[in-house]
Amino acid sequence: MPPAGYVASTSPDETLRLGEALGAVLAGGDVVALSGELGVGKTCFTQGIARGLGIDPRVPVTSPTFTLMGEYPGRLVLRHADFYRVERYSRLEAAGFEDALDEHGVLVVEWAERYPDALPAARLEIEIKLESDQARRFYLNARGSRAEDLARSLLESCP
Ligand SMILES: Nc1ncnc2c1ncn2[C@@H]1O[C@H](COP(=O)(O)OP(=O)(O)OP(=O)(O)O)[C@@H](O)[C@H]1O
Ligand SMILES: [Mg+2]
Repeated sequence: MPPAGYVASTSPDETLRLGEALGAVLAGGDVVALSGELGVGKTCFTQGIARGLGIDPRVPVTSPTFTLMGEYPGRLVLRHADFYRVERYSRLEAAGFEDALDEHGVLVVEWAERYPDALPAARLEIEIKLESDQARRFYLNARGSRAEDLARSLLESCP
């Protein structure tokens, strides 16, 4: 049975810790597709992933505005993309998005639901939903057996 369900957060700090728990178990080639409305916590969660990957906490991880992708060296390279401002699928191709997918790095994409076909079929999808002021739920949808392992691990890290 593929794991299904969600993990919950009640503060930005908790979201950072959730991201950190995931970042700690990510391996080269893993893809995490984040979705959810504006300001729901996708970047905050990505900052946690960066911590879990051992990226220097002094390095600010922010959504890239003028480039498609941010790159952060750590235990593995974190590549962080945001599809929010990508007007067309062809812009992704033109920007060499496919080069972001290799077995040495981890790819995290915000607004992934805008261009799902640009992503590998095997990926961990996380849809963040706002419950109330500070409360969020992170719904996990594992695509492929590797993503199932990651989802299971995240669910187990927060009982
Ligand atoms: N439980 C929570 N988890 C994450 N962020 C929270 C939480 N509660 C409140 N916040 C606040 O919500 C905001 C989340 O901002 P963030 O930039 O991570 O969102 P985003 O989903 O990346 O937005 P965008 O769609 O603009 O990229 C921050 O201001 C943060 O302080
Ligand atoms: Mg963001």
